[in-house]
Amino acid sequence: HIDIVHVLKQEPSLHEITVRGWVRSFRSNRFIALNDGSTINNIQCVVDFENFEEETLKNITTGAAIEVSGVLVESQGQGQNVEIQVSKVEVLGIADPEEVKLTILSPKRHSLEKLREQAHLRVRTNTFGAVMRLRSKLSFAVHEYFQKNGFYYMHTPIITGSDAEGAGEMFKVSALDTKNPPLDDHGNVNYKEDFFEKETNLTVSGQLEAETYAMGLGKVYTFGPTFRAENSNTSRHLAEFWMIEPEVAFNNLADNMDLAEDFIKYVIKYAIENCQDDLEFLENRLIQEDKSKPVAERQEMTLREKLHFVVDNNFKRVSYTEAIDILKNSKPNKKKKFNYIIEEWGADLQSEHERFLVEKHFKCPVILFDYPATIKAFYMRLNEDEKTVRAMDVLFPGIGEIVGGSQREERYDVLKKKMKDMDISEEELYWYLDLRKFGTCTHSGFGLGFERLVLFVTGMGNIRDVIPYPRSPGNAEF
Ligand code: 4AD
Ligand code: MG
Repeated sequence: HIDIVHVLKQEPSLHEITVRGWVRSFRSNRFIALNDGSTINNIQCVVDFENFEEETLKNITTGAAIEVSGVLVESQGQGQNVEIQVSKVEVLGIADPEEVKLTILSPKRHSLEKLREQAHLRVRTNTFGAVMRLRSKLSFAVHEYFQKNGFYYMHTPIITGSDAEGAGEMFKVSALDTKNPPLDDHGNVNYKEDFFEKETNLTVSGQLEAETYAMGLGKVYTFGPTFRAENSNTSRHLAEFWMIEPEVAFNNLADNMDLAEDFIKYVIKYAIENCQDDLEFLENRLIQEDKSKPVAERQEMTLREKLHFVVDNNFKRVSYTEAIDILKNSKPNKKKKFNYIIEEWGADLQSEHERFLVEKHFKCPVILFDYPATIKAFYMRLNEDEKTVRAMDVLFPGIGEIVGGSQREERYDVLKKKMKDMDISEEELYWYLDLRKFGTCTHSGFGLGFERLVLFVTGMGNIRDVIPYPRSPGNAEF
């Protein structure tokens, strides 16, 4: 059988073809709309019902899996060039209409919340089919970019003993009997008796291990799952998300910014060029959704305009200090106030501030750099002012932070002191310090949250709708 995406590009022909897929609808006992996941578009299969047994026709219902053979003829219907004139149809798997009615497979509009409750079925809707095809294409583009540019793909461990971000937001990994764990002399759980003979957790970032490999392979990237037990129940946070982390020896902060900008533009351009049908569908979906909203809440840009906003603009590079000055003197909206007011230098930005800078002030993607050392991780390169570090965040419209990265502290003594001040165990991270003893050099990298990228490119509103099975507080079904 042939994928429907290819069939739809063919010319009418007397040659018989076979397709397989799931029935989206069967109208007037005559028109089957069939989809096989290869494209957002259905192929119309026209049945002369006089020629088929009633038993077969009865089982061609929404959700059923069928195989159809016939010739491709020019379509009389709108929006399609060809359709299949059916000569043979076989029902491979039935779907009882009474039961389908109770699921999101039933042909009516279901809310995204409802679809989330039936995450095992939602990929059969147009919206999720489009999102998941884009997700797959984008991940291919990520690999293509790095492989073309001489980077090596590195697989960092999922189970680790370290907290790369030093933020303590980790899921513990243990093989101990939680009801009856072994205790030490002080009555605490004795992890020496655990599987790894120490405390371990799921990784929050592969960066530290990636740094070790960049110090031998030069240019590496990771692309794998990361886990954070932060209790942020927002539309931009997941407890399990995929992160892409390039790390490059000899790159400084400016090189790091260039890499981030070039990389992001490449993958978004790839989507624009290779996912036209799905993007068009998602764009129209947003336009429809907007019609039911008050004018003030509608999107200012269409999806296409938003993608071009990133691809066609230079990312504006602004220091944290400059940004704070702008934010202190800005009136963001009619209320003329941010929800969280920046009082002074040193405060961390919220996504409302990040979005204001991008959407209202600079009107282009922004890279903020040189953040206060106190609000960033221990490994970032301290500047000569001894107050700021060579950190960078890339800020996007509608999202806020999409990338976080930095030039790394390469000086042994400075790093050691910083770890001490921030209470990070030198014993645990002796191997990380070793890098600064044996041929240390300037190096930089960043992390891009893959779901934030998919969220941006698809125009979806909630990060839980761009990953097959989202993990968030209170939710690990499926
Ligand atoms: O800014 P973060 O915490 O940086 C790091 O983890 C560094 N080790 C990266 C590096 O320099 N190699 O996270 C990087 C990105 C964020 O900008 C965001 O896009 C995404 O990861 N991210 C999340 N995405 C979804 N859910 C969460 N809970 C996320 N936390 C971070
Ligand atoms: Mg960050």
